[in-house]
Amino acid sequence: MNEKLFREIMEINPIYARPGENTEAPRFKMPTDAMLPETAYQIVHDESMMDGNARLNLATFVSTWMDERADKLYREAFDKNAIDKDEYPETARIETYCWTMLADLWHAPKPKETIGCSTTGSSEACMLGGLALKRRWQEKRKAEGKPIDKPNLVMSSAVQVCWKKFCNYFDVEPRYVPISLEHKVLDGYELEKYVDENTIGVVAIMGVTYTGMYEPVDKIAKVLDGIQEKTGLDIQIHVDAASGGMIAPFLQPDNVWDFRLERVASINTSGHKYGLVYPGLGWVVWRDCQSLPDSLIFKVSYLGGTMPTFALNFSRPGAQILLQYWAFLRYGFEGYKKVQGATSDVARYLANEIKKIGPFELWNDASDIPVFAWMMKKDQKHNWGLYDLSDRLRMKGWLIPAYPMPTNLTDLTVQRIVVRNGLGMDLADQLINDMKTEVAYLEKLDQPLPENHRSGFHH
Ligand SMILES: Cc1ncc(COP(=O)(O)O)c(C=O)c1O
Repeated sequence: MNEKLFREIMEINPIYARPGENTEAPRFKMPTDAMLPETAYQIVHDESMMDGNARLNLATFVSTWMDERADKLYREAFDKNAIDKDEYPETARIETYCWTMLADLWHAPKPKETIGCSTTGSSEACMLGGLALKRRWQEKRKAEGKPIDKPNLVMSSAVQVCWKKFCNYFDVEPRYVPISLEHKVLDGYELEKYVDENTIGVVAIMGVTYTGMYEPVDKIAKVLDGIQEKTGLDIQIHVDAASGGMIAPFLQPDNVWDFRLERVASINTSGHKYGLVYPGLGWVVWRDCQSLPDSLIFKVSYLGGTMPTFALNFSRPGAQILLQYWAFLRYGFEGYKKVQGATSDVARYLANEIKKIGPFELWNDASDIPVFAWMMKKDQKHNWGLYDLSDRLRMKGWLIPAYPMPTNLTDLTVQRIVVRNGLGMDLADQLINDMKTEVAYLEKLDQPLPENHRSGFHH
């Protein structure tokens, strides 16, 4: 933290401080005395007011708007603790409805015989999916009298950071298959070089964070079928469908990526992304109860009754579960299809308009999830780059990050737009107008801008 920018003592605006109240408070120490609730409210309200405008944030996947009926439900439920299933049995029941609906949406052979749970987001859901893969591999190897000290997980070099965390925190060797201009996603190419008897599973992504592209899960499964025929290795897939899990069923129903493929053991999604719920909510569902080893489930009795739990957290908010149920009831299949379809139309329109501006080449065209990335055309000389464009657009309030691609492609910078519900065609036109103005400004530079602080990829 740059201390020069932060005053140690916060001055309380005399308009807010009531007679007899302190007019100062320390910033890095808990104040000694209490203050009136109105004064504390005003300080927090004012300090957080300078956060960005979420509607202009085209960097995040996370929902920032829900209908006022959902807001009402949220207010009614913000005190519910999801873990306290004895106190809130209805919320627990509703959680089961939600993941059973997801199991059905993702074509589980017997949705009512699957097992799943809610989480704080896809990161936790991925950890649980990864842990189940690891434990199943361990139990099988132990039964065969084989060593279990070198588990590895195979995935694209463009995985979201949660998979790197999983491998780091749970002692699993990450094996990254590098993406390239020829293989823009993990597509099964040379997979046999990465898997072996210590592979606990393969991660396939439906909606790569860097670009929004789908990985062809059916193709990956076929390559694994071939590997099994040759070597006997039976390797399962976890699908990280953080975004695509709530897009593909509605917009690309013929894409076979889910439990229709026998090799898919588990799937996660973020309720708070295209599930259209406020943060933080994720879901993970296993194909059947055998896919989630019983040895991972804890039974706790502190809250009354005996509750099975498989989660990294204990207490966490339960309100989002009710909001997800509200969204499922409110939109239904056809409603989700319409909302996601409208979002996808805007994304494809934006991709096409950005391509027409001139200096850019699209990495992808938003035909998977409503997310796309572009790069500067090769062999053209400019005094500016995508980082400069990102800075210029930020001055107008738009948050559109530029970042390097992962290992093997780190020389390539891309810029990405995530379109969410709420970015309509009017706002899209405004963005294109702003982009054209800023590109024209940058094109007039007769020398490069001073190098700015270049941030890495913010997932
Ligand atoms: C593919 C993928 N997996 C996992 C995550 C982590 O999701 P969450 O933010 O819900 O923890 C993301 C977030 O962008 C993602 O894109």
